[in-house]
Amino acid sequence: MSNNVRPESMGRIAAPEQAQAFIAEQCAALKEQIGGKQVLLALSGGVDSSVVAALLIKAVGRQLVCVHVNHGLLRKGEPEQVVRVFRDAMGANLIYVDAADRFLDKLAGVSDPEAKRKIIGAEFIRVFEEEARKLDNIAFLAQGTIYPDILESGPVKAHHNVGGLPDDLKFELVEPLKFLFKDEVRVVGKALGLPDSMVYRQPFPGPGLGVRCLGAITRDRLEALREADAILREEFDKAGLAGKVWQYFAVVPDMKSTGVRDGKRTFDWPVILRAVNTRDAMSATVEELPWALLHKLTARITSEVPGVNRVLYDLTPKPSGTIEWE
Ligand code: XMP
Repeated sequence: MSNNVRPESMGRIAAPEQAQAFIAEQCAALKEQIGGKQVLLALSGGVDSSVVAALLIKAVGRQLVCVHVNHGLLRKGEPEQVVRVFRDAMGANLIYVDAADRFLDKLAGVSDPEAKRKIIGAEFIRVFEEEARKLDNIAFLAQGTIYPDILESGPVKAHHNVGGLPDDLKFELVEPLKFLFKDEVRVVGKALGLPDSMVYRQPFPGPGLGVRCLGAITRDRLEALREADAILREEFDKAGLAGKVWQYFAVVPDMKSTGVRDGKRTFDWPVILRAVNTRDAMSATVEELPWALLHKLTARITSEVPGVNRVLYDLTPKPSGTIEWE
C-alpha cells in the first residue's frame, strides 16, 4: 500500500504559482511512473476526474484513454461539454459511450431509491468494464481520489471510483490528487486551463438526475427534469448566484396535479426547486431566494417545460430533510 498521509512538507496550494509548481512536479512523477504505457480514466466531467484528466493529458498526452459514460442521467449540455473540452480543445484520447438506453431500460419500473442507486452503480461498472476489455496495453487506472475521500473513509468511497472491476482488470492505480483538498483541486484545475463552469461546478451526485426524478424514472419526466434544471441553472447564472449557493437543483415527483392553461384543464407534474448552503453536507440551510427570481423561474418553467403546471420551492433545512429527495 502506498502512503496515504499528506506529506508535512507539502504547502497549501492557493496561488496560481503554487498550482504550477504542483503541476510540474506531478507531471514529472507521472511520466516516470507511467513510462510508455497507457492509463485509463473514467471521466465523468465532475471537478476531480476533470482535473485528473487535464493533468494526465499534460503529462502523457494520448497515452491517457478517457472513457466518458453518458448514463442518460447527466444535466443538460454536460456530455457535450466533456467532449468539447477534452477531445476538441485538449486533444484527448476520449471514448464517448452513449449508454442512456441501457441505464433507462434497467431502471424502468424501479422506484426504491437505494435500488436505483445500486442499478446505476453496477451498470456503470459493467459499461466501463466492457470498454476496458476492448483496449490493449492498459497498465494503469487513474482516479480522482482527493484527500477528504481518504480521510473520511479509509478506503476510497464506492461512488468515487470504479473499484468494482473484476480481478483480471485490476490495474495499478494512479491518483495524482490524493493529497489535495477540494479548493486546491480547483486552483490546479484553473491553472491547467479548465473552464470555470467545470472547475467551480456545484456538487452533483453520482446517480445524477436519477435520484431527482423521484420514484420509477420515465423518459418524459426525466426530460422535464433536465429542462427545468437547465432553466434554474441559467437563471442562477444570470442572477450571479451560481458561485454563491452551494447546491441548487430541480426535482420532479411522480405525481400530478390539476391546473389550467389556455382555458383548458391540465393534469401535469410539479417541479420542486431546492437551493441550499452547507459546509460539510451534514446539515444545510435554505438560500433565501429573491421573490422576483422565484416568480421568473415559475413563469419560465411552467411555460417552457412540457408536462409541468406548478413550481414549488423547498424551504426545508437539513435536518429534517436531506439535501436530495431520495
Ligand atoms: P443528502 O441528500 O444525503 O446529500 O443530504 C448530501 C450530499 O451528498 C450528495 N449525494 C450523493 N452523492 N452519490 C453521490 O455521489 C449519491 O448517491 C448521493 N446521494 C447524495 C448530495 O447531492 C449532497 O451534495
